[in-house]
Amino acid sequence: MKAFFFLIFLSIFSCPVAAQSQSADSGSISAIISEKGLNFVKDLLIEQELRALVPLKLKDVEKSIRIPLIGSVYVSLANITVLEVSVSSSTVHPGDTGVVIVASGATANLSMDWRYSYRTWLTPVEISDKGSALVQVEGMQVGLTISMKTRNGTLQLTVLECGCSMKDLSITLEGGASWFYQGFVIAFEDQIRSAMESAITKKITEGTSKLDLFLRSLPKEINVDNNVALNVTFMNDPILGDSSVEFDINGLFIPSDKVALPRNSYESSQTSISCLGAPRMLGISLDETVFTSAAAVYFQAGSMHWLVDKVPDQSLLNTASWKFIIPQLYWKYPNDDMELNITLISPPVMRIKPEGIGATITAEMTANVLHKSESIPVACIMVVVSVSGVVEISGNNLAGKAELNDFTLSLKWSKVGNFHMYLIQGVMKVFLNTVFIPLVNSHLKQGFPLPIIHGFTLQDAEILTSSSKIVVCSDVVFTNSNSLMRFLLQNYSSMLRLRNQWK
Ligand SMILES: *[C@@H]1O[C@H](CO)[C@@H](O)[C@H](O)[C@H]1NC(C)=O
Ligand SMILES: *[C@@H]1O[C@H](CO)[C@@H](O)[C@H](O)[C@H]1NC(C)=O
Ligand SMILES: *[C@@H]1O[C@H](CO)[C@@H](O)[C@H](O)[C@H]1NC(C)=O
Ligand SMILES: *[C@@H]1O[C@H](CO)[C@@H](O)[C@H](O)[C@H]1NC(C)=O
Ligand SMILES: *[C@@H]1O[C@H](CO)[C@@H](O)[C@H](O)[C@H]1NC(C)=O
Ligand SMILES: *[C@@H]1O[C@H](CO)[C@@H](O)[C@H](O)[C@H]1NC(C)=O
Repeated sequence: MKAFFFLIFLSIFSCPVAAQSQSADSGSISAIISEKGLNFVKDLLIEQELRALVPLKLKDVEKSIRIPLIGSVYVSLANITVLEVSVSSSTVHPGDTGVVIVASGATANLSMDWRYSYRTWLTPVEISDKGSALVQVEGMQVGLTISMKTRNGTLQLTVLECGCSMKDLSITLEGGASWFYQGFVIAFEDQIRSAMESAITKKITEGTSKLDLFLRSLPKEINVDNNVALNVTFMNDPILGDSSVEFDINGLFIPSDKVALPRNSYESSQTSISCLGAPRMLGISLDETVFTSAAAVYFQAGSMHWLVDKVPDQSLLNTASWKFIIPQLYWKYPNDDMELNITLISPPVMRIKPEGIGATITAEMTANVLHKSESIPVACIMVVVSVSGVVEISGNNLAGKAELNDFTLSLKWSKVGNFHMYLIQGVMKVFLNTVFIPLVNSHLKQGFPLPIIHGFTLQDAEILTSSSKIVVCSDVVFTNSNSLMRFLLQNYSSMLRLRNQWK
């Protein structure tokens, strides 16, 4: 049934295989994440990173420090834990080498347990004390440059640079003598600072690796139904613009059984996406070739035909209704029921123009008489239907709606004598409007999935048509954290094992 809806969908939104030609390997679907979209992603990532960052354990530290009048004091710091990190402002910019994310004005607090011991000539027994300390970090800045490349059809993220620096540390010791405080600060400030800087850098690099693994684990195909999938393989390296990033995706339909079709290549036009009006996070541009490939796949899968045995005016599917228009039909098969066998003889031809979307469907409609439990073809009419359509967004699917424009009829053959097409024109128009188009629309409502990462949903989408392209401009909301965030929060060591298995 799903294949059926799709073939109808395609019959409206498709264009001929004949339009194929050799081309460079640019994708048929491209997605641009705008400045607004990059900020959205950045905020989401920072929020999740911060959540995943704490509590962060740093390595224990031990050291002998010299304290005036006392001498050498052995100090150890244990259970150094970063409790909380917050970021007050952050920016994201696509640069020459990669995307640069800077978080500034960050603050953090750490807790730790300290312990000291010493001996002096005055006191032969060891003197020791312990307590805890709180460290407050202000003016922390974290910078990260991530390169994005396409490798083996998936997106690869690599950390090119990651740096962390902090301005002020304020240390509060609980317990301890006052001489200890001064010595402690002098001895450990730099050590805490650098331990913190390297731990945060390491964590962020790990976080990016998780994201990288997540992106690599994304499927290269999205199943549309049992027969057909959308190839969402990444094509070229992402294009970093001044304030946006563009991704090219293959975007062609393929049979999901992988029984190779003749290898087609499609030329997609290279106009860039532009969304009008209010800035949107995401622009997805679908070339006519997306629909062309879909039409070709469904057509070659042989699924573009169907039998109609129910119509609103059921009497039309009885030879008695045709007594006067096609007398021979009634003479030969009086009062027999009929069915219509509709077969598309070529993939539908779709045209996307700035003014709108149109499609031409060429079908053979064979009338079968159901006579003595036999189905006997009696006449065949060639129907060329021209429809106009609008596309709309339903969830994360691209869906549509069609309207009958025009049609032409010609008699291909008949076993019940010649009859003039103008005689059935009126009935045919009613049939197309009451059976064909509503059927088309009930299925067009579902559409096919746009390549959106699970967990994100399009919001306030607007659709533009330009020459041979449909452009979806939309904001995105993060609706569930199941897949992406579970991945980000997963145990990193088990993910590394996974990655090593892949290597
Ligand atoms: C380490 O520090 C954390 C945070 O202050 C605390 O919850 C935990 O109980 C400490 N662990 C030990 C073994 O002292
Ligand atoms: C960290 O410091 C901030 C600012 O002083 C404070 O609001 C917050 O409660 C502290 N968090 C912890 C866990 O001590
Ligand atoms: C590329 O991806 C395919 C699956 O899509 C996988 O079978 C293959 O091993 C990958 N090749 C490399 C070099 O990673
Ligand atoms: C999907 O697209 C990629 C990139 O164009 C291509 O190499 C691959 O063969 C396609 N997959 C199928 C099954 O056609
Ligand atoms: C419908 O028509 C197609 C092509 O003309 C034919 O192959 C098929 O057998 C027909 N089916 C029925 C049930 O008449
Ligand atoms: C990660 O997993 C390993 C083994 O599966 C386990 O030993 C380790 O404690 C885990 N680490 C965290 C932080 O959960």
